[in-house]
Amino acid sequence: MTIRSVLRLGDPRLLQVASEVSEFNNPELDALIEDMFDTMEAEEGAGLAAPQIGIGLRVAIFGFDINPRYPDSDPVPKTILINPEIIPLTNEKEDGWEGCLSVPQMRGVVARFTHIRYTGFDASGAAIDVTAEGFHARVVQHECDHLDGIIYTQRLSDPSKFGFTEELHNSGQLASVNCSD
Ligand code: NI
Repeated sequence: MTIRSVLRLGDPRLLQVASEVSEFNNPELDALIEDMFDTMEAEEGAGLAAPQIGIGLRVAIFGFDINPRYPDSDPVPKTILINPEIIPLTNEKEDGWEGCLSVPQMRGVVARFTHIRYTGFDASGAAIDVTAEGFHARVVQHECDHLDGIIYTQRLSDPSKFGFTEELHNSGQLASVNCSD
């Protein structure tokens, strides 16, 4: 079990476009993914992208049954998603609060597509093709942005709806959010 340190906003590596994975089903890739899950679970993240631990590959993981950082969210299936593509299934976007392990203790409102299809590969190279909505769709869009060097703070719907989780919670802007982050 290896918990890796998560790069924080300001580290230029978070802004780089990650490279496609070309070889699947090998111990190096499996070890990377295991470290990513260990790190995500230790930090109670909803997802994590390889660039967040300084690895410039198009690998994202996400999913949880119950997440104390997002207690009102429906479960999201645990997924390893490599070389992903997102196809919006609607033009409709919805505002929602997001956080990021690379931007600790903060939340901001971002508009995301409400319904998407996403494709990619798992660690063995098997194809993934899933449709998702709601928070599941939001998490996938957030994690895939990391692979293109985009942090949610670059997509804020309204810069005034961004701040420390605790203050947003105390002022009633964020409902029932665990502030431990
Ligand atoms: Ni993030």
